[in-house]
Amino acid sequence: MIRKSDFLVVGTGVAGLCFALKARNHGSVVLLAKKSANDTNTNLAQGGIAAVMGNDDLLEYHVEDTLDSGCGLSHPDAVKTVVEAGPTMIKELLDLGVPFTSQVDHPDVPELGREGGHSRRRIIHAKDMTGQAVQKVLGELAEADGNVEILEKHQALDLILKTDPDGTRRPIGLWVLDTATGLISPFLAKAVILATGGSGKVYLYTTNPDGATGDGLAIGWRAGAKVSNMEFVQFHPTCLYHPQTRNFLISEAVRGEGGRLIDFEGRAIMEGHPQGDLALRDVVALAIDASMKRTGAENVFLDITHKPAEFIKDRFPKIYTTCLSLGIDITREPIPVVPAAHYQCGGLEVDLDGRTNVVGLYAIGEVAATGLHGANRLASNSLLEALVMADRASKAAAQEIRSRREPDSSDISPWPDGRVGHLPSEAVLISHSWDEIRRFMWNYVGLVRSDQRLAMAAQRMDLVKSEIDDFFRNFEVDADLIEVRNIAVVADLIIRSATLRKESRGLHYSLSWPNRDDARFLRDTVLENPSPRSILAPAGNL
Ligand code: SIN
Repeated sequence: MIRKSDFLVVGTGVAGLCFALKARNHGSVVLLAKKSANDTNTNLAQGGIAAVMGNDDLLEYHVEDTLDSGCGLSHPDAVKTVVEAGPTMIKELLDLGVPFTSQVDHPDVPELGREGGHSRRRIIHAKDMTGQAVQKVLGELAEADGNVEILEKHQALDLILKTDPDGTRRPIGLWVLDTATGLISPFLAKAVILATGGSGKVYLYTTNPDGATGDGLAIGWRAGAKVSNMEFVQFHPTCLYHPQTRNFLISEAVRGEGGRLIDFEGRAIMEGHPQGDLALRDVVALAIDASMKRTGAENVFLDITHKPAEFIKDRFPKIYTTCLSLGIDITREPIPVVPAAHYQCGGLEVDLDGRTNVVGLYAIGEVAATGLHGANRLASNSLLEALVMADRASKAAAQEIRSRREPDSSDISPWPDGRVGHLPSEAVLISHSWDEIRRFMWNYVGLVRSDQRLAMAAQRMDLVKSEIDDFFRNFEVDADLIEVRNIAVVADLIIRSATLRKESRGLHYSLSWPNRDDARFLRDTVLENPSPRSILAPAGNL
């Protein structure tokens, strides 16, 4: 069956939902969620949304902090655009009913938290469950909207591309796997918007949910969209270290409220640094890594026990209860933590309206690189960026589709060759590839890199990629195979980008090139796919 809509959005986090709620005034919107609609990075975001709301704050300060964090690579126009729209975005969310935490004496005024790299208190939050609060309100609005359809268990595979008479290649939709039935069908639309979030699952340890497999990035890349700055992967300094949980974040807001990082012997890890525990994330994560290597320990600790227990329970209810359920009372004992992959600062290169270089293809949120983050994202700038870019892209896409005719089945390219079918060993081999990629990315392309480690990773990646491509060509497609194929693309792009940057800057630290080299590398790393596919349709499950 062929499905049609004006806008086809992949992803149901803040970027996708916000886009849908704005674009709905200009046409029909279909939103695809590969699992449940709430299975998003947004839903896990604890810290908040950075915006200039305080009496002691100015837009210029937020711009300056963002540029400092980006280590010379943030684009000033992107920074200005996103920061300036911040207060309006917060007001819109308040008007929609998002329950941000308010000041004790002024119930109408949001309380402002502090995170690393911010020179002022400017983090709007809903205690330590900010993303969840935003997701709930926007998700309910989208669900109730007659012009928006949310389809869960629908996994995007690849774009359906068409070449116009003037030679322009553009997407007219996507091949989508319905994971409930196992069938793949075409979803046609006048504009396709990738809002799939990040790719933390490319690393063994991550704060991201299982679905963060870089799907939009890989889909865009295969279709010829440029990517930029993929070497800049942000490792959050404080992921809970506990055998029973894999990806629980301990928000930077804990350090914003006085939490201190200590080693096994109680030594303060950030002692002597001018910004102490609130230094930028790259600095803190590297300091933790160095401490663990020096002491031989597998983790460090975050200690907030000096604050009153009632304050901790009220300000960090999610962290408190989650840790307590694992036997850690954070009001009385330090929290074991380790750095883990958290945020992809690079992505599909877009302009300030979310357009990729593929006409009719938009990317918003973590999957996109607007130029805001540069070499290191400032904490809590990403939900803000997602809101601002969704708003801007909705206007640009609405304008663009006015001159587009509705695609129909005659536009769909023929299917390539069929498939052989399942082999009994397939599942084992796929999970082997998953594990292999995530381990070597952690070991060779993690916090500390070198030319030698990157070369080893590149060699392993070549082998794994050809194995996965073989699977994709020859076997019936399932959800797992789609994800591992995408993760392989992301891993490859990270390795290749990191290999090209022969310096250390922000989140890219190389033992072979330990210094920053502005003369040669004060620029984005942009990669272009030399052979984008024109027919992007698998056949086995049709
Ligand atoms: C956090 O709460 O520490 C995460 C905030 C962010 O990554 O922006």
